Amino acid sequence: MAEKNDFFQSQTVLDFNKSLEPFHLGPLWHAIPELMHKQPTPQAVPYLWKWETLYAKLMEAKDIFTPERGGERRAIYLQNPGLTGRQPWGWASTTQTLYAAVQLILPGETAPSHRHTQSALRFIMKGEGAYSIVQGERIFMEEGDFLTTPKGLWHGHGHPGDKPMIWMDCLDIPTIYAIGGTFFEHYPETIEQPQAPDNYSSHRYAGGMVRPISDRRPQAAPLGSYKWAQTLAALDGLSQYEPDPYDGYAVEYINPSNGRTASPNIASWMQKLPQGFHSKAHRHTHSVIYQVFKGCGYSIIDGVRFDWSEGDFLVIPNWALHEHVALADSYLFSASDLPIMEKFEVDREEGYEGQQAVTGVFEPLLP
Ligand SMILES: [Fe+2]
Ligand SMILES: [Fe+2]
Repeated sequence: MAEKNDFFQSQTVLDFNKSLEPFHLGPLWHAIPELMHKQPTPQAVPYLWKWETLYAKLMEAKDIFTPERGGERRAIYLQNPGLTGRQPWGWASTTQTLYAAVQLILPGETAPSHRHTQSALRFIMKGEGAYSIVQGERIFMEEGDFLTTPKGLWHGHGHPGDKPMIWMDCLDIPTIYAIGGTFFEHYPETIEQPQAPDNYSSHRYAGGMVRPISDRRPQAAPLGSYKWAQTLAALDGLSQYEPDPYDGYAVEYINPSNGRTASPNIASWMQKLPQGFHSKAHRHTHSVIYQVFKGCGYSIIDGVRFDWSEGDFLVIPNWALHEHVALADSYLFSASDLPIMEKFEVDREEGYEGQQAVTGVFEPLLP
């Protein structure tokens, strides 16, 4: 082996490698170790953003930036420190495939309608009274609601209520950028006007897992909003039985017309981890962005303990070993690139014997 390495470092080989460069050619024998690892070695790192920090920065942003001043949305996105300077578009996304942000809308504000080839989802963290208007339907949002806006649908936001509202956005921006599929379009007028009754799709699905017969044919988003009360009822039902050893009690938001994930490239789950629950450790090729909706606890990722509480965001990169511990009854919303891994047929999961030894504690940045 040493002899082989010596050969590839010999002057003859190095000179030849160099001679290819002016012709925009490259030697595969040199690139293979960097391109083809034995297992995933993501550049994204495990990371945690505290709610205190996100909230403080949103409050600063509210006085400086308004959607009316020409921007699209008052959103601050989460940049994975492992990706800083490593992505061709000049900014770091949250994982290698997904972008996540916190967005604040104030009473009286509107965020103009637009559409794009990236698919978006929203998870409502704080406040009430604002709506998203998706394809002419105003969807009023409450804490714990999940909304989906698959690619190509017009969407804007408005806030006739009286309290600030904050939600999580998650989009497949890095993936669509990487494959060269980005299209973006402004709505001709500022914000689309209602063309359907308010909360129309939620009313049509008030019963939960029964669908109107007209929705037998697959549609992009027959249901725009998944109400927290229904998600909670599903988790309460599950909670009567044994939890999943890795994920506790977990449900997935699906498109009721085709049974697939609610957003085409992003899987969205809500997990309940009861107080005292300590999951088994595992790892998988999909990466996950967690938002702590309620509760507190910690996760151990590759041996490092990440303490979390309400409002925090946590990233588990691809193939990182992880386990969760709930110190109080906890509800975790998550968005992952599982559908992307499944489409490419590289979804893989591996359990770990026992639980990890803690070798370090993550120190979050506070405002
Ligand atoms: Fe958008
Ligand atoms: Fe997991």
